[in-house]
Amino acid sequence: MNAASTPHLLACEFRGHLARQEQLCDRLERLADSLPDALNVQEGLYVAQSLLPTVTLAHRFEEEKVFPLLHGTTHSATLERLGYEHMGDEEYAGDIIHALRAYVMERRSSNAEALAWMMRGFFEALRRHIAFEREHILPLLEKEKLP
Ligand SMILES: [Fe+2]
Repeated sequence: MNAASTPHLLACEFRGHLARQEQLCDRLERLADSLPDALNVQEGLYVAQSLLPTVTLAHRFEEEKVFPLLHGTTHSATLERLGYEHMGDEEYAGDIIHALRAYVMERRSSNAEALAWMMRGFFEALRRHIAFEREHILPLLEKEKLP
């Protein structure tokens, strides 16, 4: 393990990814609340553009830098579950991007309720995922409680 990948530095980077995903959840919630009539088009397009890069960067960081440190420990089953949640979230994010862009571009007001429901399902699940990682995974790096 070199200096650039010490648990303390990884914890700092991990906190950054978690914070950026939380900010994204907040933006999605504001967008969902604004539907159908008060939608900020620029904000909708920005969120659609940044959604997948934000979550995939966080996921690859965790899977490539954090999870390998915990493989072979009592956390193995948890890591597998978190990995599956990553896959599900990326697929779900793709669906939201498609639906959000379609709504912004075409203003299909009949789809506003479905779009808001999709966004709420996504950010509520992602917030639970983030809360779990902050409570159970991040402390392992912060306190260097690694095997
Ligand atoms: Fe994660």
